[in-house]
Amino acid sequence: MHGLILGIESSCDETGVALVRPAGGGAPPRLLAHALHSQISMHQAYGGVVPELASRDHIRRVLPLTQAVLEQAGARLAEVGLVAFTRGPGLAGALLVGAGVACALGAALDVPVLGIHHLEGHLLSPFLSADPPAFPFVALLVSGGHTQLMRVDGVGRYELLGETIDDAAGEAFDKSAKLLGLPYPGGPALAALAGQGDADAFRLPRPLLHSGDLDFSFAGLKTAVLTQARRLGEALPARRADLAAATQAAIVEVLVRKSLKALEATGLARLVVAGGVGANRALRAQLDAACAARGVRVHYPELHLCTDNGAMIALAAAMRVQAGVARPARDYAFDVRPRWPLDAIGAAGA
Ligand code: KG4
Ligand code: ZN
Repeated sequence: MHGLILGIESSCDETGVALVRPAGGGAPPRLLAHALHSQISMHQAYGGVVPELASRDHIRRVLPLTQAVLEQAGARLAEVGLVAFTRGPGLAGALLVGAGVACALGAALDVPVLGIHHLEGHLLSPFLSADPPAFPFVALLVSGGHTQLMRVDGVGRYELLGETIDDAAGEAFDKSAKLLGLPYPGGPALAALAGQGDADAFRLPRPLLHSGDLDFSFAGLKTAVLTQARRLGEALPARRADLAAATQAAIVEVLVRKSLKALEATGLARLVVAGGVGANRALRAQLDAACAARGVRVHYPELHLCTDNGAMIALAAAMRVQAGVARPARDYAFDVRPRWPLDAIGAAGA
């Protein structure tokens, strides 16, 4: 494949664009530039993502961000040899913006396009870090919409080991934060408040901790936080940090214990953590400690590439092409897949 890869991410509330240079000889691709616009402040007034507003903002941002990335990289549009975009999962209207722009650019430049699975982007994002992983590994994917443990044997070789049966870990953070009166997105806000609290002040449930499988459930935790908050009544403001700390501790303990279980079950000694919740410092500290004690290597994406971004989309495209599992085509009749299981993409692509 010739030329640079332009990646466009628009599945939710972040517009991300990036440019990578594919590398030869099995080396990871190199990130030349990436630019991001977060819509958080726009959605904050509504306490969550408003899909219609998200789509409209992606339209405003995507071309200026593309321009910025080209300038940063000192590259010309004519050097782009492949345009990659997030095909799913995510908000349909938001996805359509990135897909539409990517395919229009591809058609104008007469280069192929490639739709990428958003979670594959997250999962491969540690390959852009200074300490890239090697296959095979167990991946803990923890984002706002997904909580999954996967066995990863190579690019496109993803086997689902377990997943949440209701809320995602990020959703548990966000919904609990909302109950505590914290602003959207609740994850980082709850984590910051938890740093000032005592996690042992309240004992919250650890759902499915001893279920014997690798599935998760977080819906009950949200209810437990609500019950506790109601019980506290007027005392809540003074105890908010403690309740935040107890909530974070419950989520983190379940994620750590199930990750260790997945490592045991597969016999693998390498763990990759990806997705927005992977930015959580308590999760990182506990995983690091537990894995160090067991001789397991843990890999994370760079902190700024934990949440949604275009770099992971361009990277996933580069790695799929390099591994020979994707066939980018000059086929500009795009579609998007708002719901799309990762293990369905297989080695042959989708
Ligand atoms: O991967 P991501 O950016 O978007 C999705 O694909 O969903 O993940 C966003 C999620 C949100 O639920 C957000 O609250 C959570 O990641 N998050 C965090 C932290 N940073 C982001 N949760 C806990 N601690 C953090 N530091
Ligand atoms: Zn994401």
